[in-house]
Formats: sequence, structure tokens, C-alpha cells
Amino acid sequence: MDDRIGLLGFGAYVPERCMNNQEWTQYVDTTDEWITTRTGIKRRRIAADDETTVDLAAAAAEVALADAGMAVQDVDEIIVATDTPEVYTPDTAAFLQDRLGARRVPAFDLGGSGCAGFLLGLDLARARVQQRDRRILVVGVELISRLMNWHDRNICVLFGDGAGAVVVGRAADAVEIVAATAGTDGSKADILWLEAGGSRVPFSREVAASGAHRKLVMKGREVFREAVHHMAAASRQVLEDAGLGIEDVALVVPHQANLRIIQAVGGALGIAAERVFINVHEYGNTGSASVPLALWEARQMGRIAPGDLVLLTAFGAGFHWSAVLLQF
Ligand code: UT7
Repeated sequence: MDDRIGLLGFGAYVPERCMNNQEWTQYVDTTDEWITTRTGIKRRRIAADDETTVDLAAAAAEVALADAGMAVQDVDEIIVATDTPEVYTPDTAAFLQDRLGARRVPAFDLGGSGCAGFLLGLDLARARVQQRDRRILVVGVELISRLMNWHDRNICVLFGDGAGAVVVGRAADAVEIVAATAGTDGSKADILWLEAGGSRVPFSREVAASGAHRKLVMKGREVFREAVHHMAAASRQVLEDAGLGIEDVALVVPHQANLRIIQAVGGALGIAAERVFINVHEYGNTGSASVPLALWEARQMGRIAPGDLVLLTAFGAGFHWSAVLLQF
């Protein structure tokens, strides 16, 4: 009898165009040295003009389905985590269902949960598989370069485009989702937000003229502190829930926002640096694509062996945070 609920396949996609730090100097007053020392980022991928969010999502989903040995007709549900959707409404999951040629299965977005969206989707998918046996495609995708202000140096150099995907289901050889935890603190929403475009500040000609629809506000230092605190706390919580300790963890795959944040989380958890996966230098912060992209790459690079316990953790706008334990 199959009794492991977990990941059946992994996928990722990044656009071809690679933009290094030096290239940002033609848009904003910055340097490769500032970006490297403050963030660890060296380059990021930028979507082509004719690519949209669903293109990135579909490419990652197809890799995950092939990795799971599944046809698209086998998908029973689709969850897409993104803050940079295809259109305002309907959600990106609807476009993805049509693009993939999936059956008319439920498909919905987790929008606005920032960089923690994918892990929230994973936890939700696990619960839904527990409730009713099904195979769920979970995608984290972000096309941030299209929606951010390319002349705001506080923001533009930090982000990149990409997508990651997994299939969650029940199988004897699934990568088991052992435990998951998540939390939200809505009182700090205005430390990292994009205010214009909703009911508070509806989109208008004035908003467009002022550029407010692209004005992502981020109080960097406060976000930094909160990110370290909550990713470390969520990691400890999920380990405690599973009756395990940090010494049992073979690899931590954290949200890739900033090398200094990743190192601080590793330090707070007391885990050796070589057991923390890092690819922020290659892709920058890819929002909800960050964790599945890092997980996919860690697996491709042979950083995960059968039997390994892998800890995922993320933090993003909301604030939302999450940690998930996987048993390979
Ligand atoms: O995914 C979850 C959401 N995001 C995050 O987790 C990001 C969290 N925060 C961070 O990663 C860091 O706070 C940043 C990378 C955003 C900023 O690093 P910092 O060490 O906290 O720098 P800071 O905000 O204290 O800014 C230092 C200086 C400022 O100049 P003044 O006011 O000291 O003269 C900024 O104007 O650096 C300036 N600055 C830049 N300089 C060159 C900000 N951006 C740039 C830039 N190039 N791109």
C-alpha cells in the first residue's frame, strides 16, 4: 500500500537572458561591489519581451511532470503561487490549466503571499492529498522584471525571473513531506508592499503617470531582521513538530533573497555553512520561485542523497513565513 504523501517530480525554468550586476549601472546609481557585498547576487535572469508568467510556469511544470513520469491528463489540481500574475483576473492557474491542456480540474492561485507562497502551496497540497487522493501540480513563478521599477535601485537589483514546480501526491517512493508550519503577521504589511492597484488606491491615469503601480516599498533593514527571525523560528518549529533536531538535517534550502540573510539563518540554526544551499548569486531573489528553483538545482547538482532530511524555509510580504521538512 502506498502511504507516503510527498513530491513525485521536480521542475524549474529560468529565462535565457542573463543580466549581470554591471548592466544595472546603466539604469541606476549602483556598483557590482555594492550589490555583491550587500546581497551576494552576481547575476539574474530576465524574461524575454514575448514571455509572460504562464510561459515560465508551463515550462517548469512540464519538467516536473516529465520527472514524475506523468502525463498532463494525470493532474488532478493546480496551485500557482505568484505575486506577478498573468493578468489581474482571472488567476494564473486558469491560464496554466489551459496552456498545459490539463483536464478541467480545480486550479487556483495563492497570490500576494510573496516569497513564502510556494511553501504555503506545498502545505495546502499535502492536506488536500490527505483528504482525497489526487496529484497536485504546485508551481512558484515570478516575472518580477516586467512589473518592478527599473529605476529604483533599492529594489531593481535584488530580483530576477524564474519558475519552479513540483507534483504532490501519494506514492511509495515519494519524497515525503514530513511536517510543515506557517505563520502570518499582517500588522507589518506596509514594510513590504505595493499599495496602488487595489481598492485603496485604484489604478487610474494619475497612478500610472506617477508610477505608483510599480512602486514596491521595502524597508530593507526591517525586512532583513524579520526574515532572519521568522525563517529560523519556523525551522525550529517544524523540527520540533517532527521530533527531530538540526543535527538530523542534511541540507537546508532557504528562500534566496540575500546571502547575508541566508548566512544569518544558518548561524541562528547552528548548522554548518556547507549544509545550507545557496544559488542567490546566480538568480537573485525570484520570489515564490526561489525555493522550488533552489530545490531543483540542489537535486540536479547531486547535493541531496536518498534518505536525506531536507529543510525548506521561506519568508515574504505579508509578512508570511513557512518551513517544510522533506524526507528523500
Ligand atoms: O524576499 C523577501 C523580501 N526581501 C528581502 O528579504 C530583502 C531584505 N533586505 C535586504 O536584503 C537588505 O536590507 C538590502 C539588500 C535591501 C539593503 O541592504 P542594507 O545593508 O540593509 O542597506 P541599507 O538599506 O541600510 O542601505 C544602505 C545604503 C543606503 O544609502 P544611505 O542612505 O546609507 O546613503 C541606500 O540608499 O545603500 C544605498 N543603496 C544602494 N547603493 C548602491 C540601496 N540600494 C543600492 C544600490 N546600489 N542598488
